[in-house]
Formats: sequence, C-alpha cells, structure tokens
Amino acid sequence: MRVWVTGSRGQVGQVLLHALRRKGIDCFGTSHAEVDIADEGAVRARMQEATHVVNTAAYCEVDPAESQREKAFRANVLGPDVLAKVSKETGSHLLHISTDYVFDGTLGRPYAEEDEAHPLNWYGETKREGELRIAEGNPDACIVRVSWVFGGAGERNYAPRILHALQTEKELRFVDDQKSSPTYAIDFAGALIVLLDRHGMYHYCNEGCVSKYGFASAILERARQKQFLVVCERIVPVSSSAFYSAAKRPLFTPLNTQKIQALLPIRTWQEALDDYFFHLPVPSRPGVL
Ligand SMILES: NC(=O)c1ccc[n+]([C@@H]2O[C@H](COP(=O)([O-])OP(=O)(O)OC[C@H]3O[C@@H](n4cnc5c(N)ncnc54)[C@H](OP(=O)(O)O)[C@@H]3O)[C@@H](O)[C@H]2O)c1
Repeated sequence: MRVWVTGSRGQVGQVLLHALRRKGIDCFGTSHAEVDIADEGAVRARMQEATHVVNTAAYCEVDPAESQREKAFRANVLGPDVLAKVSKETGSHLLHISTDYVFDGTLGRPYAEEDEAHPLNWYGETKREGELRIAEGNPDACIVRVSWVFGGAGERNYAPRILHALQTEKELRFVDDQKSSPTYAIDFAGALIVLLDRHGMYHYCNEGCVSKYGFASAILERARQKQFLVVCERIVPVSSSAFYSAAKRPLFTPLNTQKIQALLPIRTWQEALDDYFFHLPVPSRPGVL
C-alpha cells in the first residue's frame, strides 16, 4: 500500500500524513504548489506511484468562494473529476472528503448519508458537484463528509484563532443560531485511515452538536482551567443576522454517524476538545500559542 495525500499543506492533509507515518503506512503528500488536482497530467504522473489517494485538497473559504467562483470550481469540482477519472484508469483507490455544507440545514435532525443534498452557497454547491463527479467517474471511490474541523495544522484551524481572540479581546460575539458537530482533526485522520479501503458514502464528526457560541464558550472554560492568560470577560451569543456574510449558511447540520460507528468508536466533541487542550503547551504570554 502507498497512500498519496493531496492538499498536504492543509489542516487535514498535514495531520493525516503524520497519522499515516505514525502507523508505518507508506505515504507521500503533495501541496497545491506541487500538484494542482485539476491538472490531469500532474495527477496522472503522481497517481502511478500510489495504490490509494486521499483527496484533502479543496477550496474551503465559504464567503470568499462567492466571489472566487472559478477558483472554488477548479478545486472542488474539476479536481475531483480528474482524480475520479485517473484513479479509475489506474485502479488506485480514491477517498474523497466532502462537507456538511452540501445540506441546507432544514431537516431538524442529524443528516444521514442518503438524505437529500441541497447546498445554500457556492462552496456547498461546488462540494456537492464534486461528490457527483466522483460517484460518476469512479463508483468504487469512498466519500466522507465531515463538519467543522478543528485542531489540525494550518491557518484553517479555528481553535487557536478563538484562543487568540480570548487573549486579546475583552468581549467577543459568536453566532448562536448555527449548529453543527465539531470534528477533531486527529480523530478524523484516524477515521480516514479506517476508511482507506471502503466504498460509498460515510459521515464523520465527533458526537454532539453545538453552536459557534457554545464552542467558543467551551474553549474559554478550558483556557481558564489551563490557566491561559485570558482577557475576555464575556462571550455574547448573537444571531447570524448580526454579521454580514457573503454566503448564506445552513443553520443545523450535525451529521448522523451511525454507519461509520460500525467501524470505529467516536468520542464526544467535548472529550476531543479536552484532548486538544491536554496537548497544547501553556503560552508564556498572551497571544502566543
Ligand atoms: N475545515 C473545515 O471546517 C471543514 C469542514 C467541512 C469539510 N471540510 C473539508 O475537509 C477537507 C480538508 O479541509 P481543510 O480544513 O484541510 O482545508 P485547508 O486547510 O484549506 O486545506 C486545503 C488544501 O487544499 C489546497 N488546494 C486548494 N486548491 C487546490 C487545488 N486546485 N489543487 C491542489 N490543492 C489545492 C490548499 O492549498 P492553498 O491554500 O495553497 O490553495 C490547502 O492547502 C476539504 O475537502 C473540506 O471541504 C473542512
């Protein structure tokens, strides 16, 4: 087995490569600069070296995607299209990552794999179209949808961003009417390894559901317990209408993980957040993480 991880400089890509290496699984990663997944020639050259490919590459900026439509389409639709086609030709097994943002958040219960997708914004539209291109181009592939990833490497990890804000702002406002399930990148990497030889659609996230306000409050609680230097005195819950955003966001998108729980246990997001804090060094001064 030799695993190729695309988007290897991203939050999930870096953690996955680390987890594969720790398990002694032969693997290599390519960053965006090394391989654009929409470039068929570059993909074909690397695919020859791999028995498996995990596509963590994507354009994930939800608001900027509304104006950067072609960039999002290239990464989230053309890239998966090429990966599906080339992996089908070479016989490499493809594991692709998608998102809870393919749903509109109106179902009123956690979304199962077979629930109807109906994205509300361009990021979600392109991710859904990417899923369809994968399913059509390589029906043996595996697609795993995940929500609110935290605790990975890179700039997209919003846990340190919240921590930084707690260390620099007296009062913070977080949206309390958008709820989903946080996913610890380390746990997710473990799940991706379990899914390496699987087919079809899976949902993965840590157990439980929370708003951004609830998640920020949980981070504040743990930061105080860990005696971080916190200047924030109050976190205020606000409705999403309090902030302007270019993209419309779904309000309730926890994922039903019953199917994948037959393969591996899943801990709660609170336990995962405890683990994240357990491994965080206490900063020597505010803002240093
Ligand atoms: N983060 C979340 O909360 C979240 C939630 C739900 C689902 N997901 C899904 O999880 C997966 C991993 O997300 P992540 O958090 O690791 O995102 P990330 O940190 O933004 O990483 C994505 C990586 O893909 C690269 N990339 C972008 N376009 C590319 C292209 N055309 N070819 C090759 N590489 C390209 C990016 O490089 P550049 O930055 O250099 O362009 C970046 O390094 C994605 O499929 C995402 O949709 C994430």
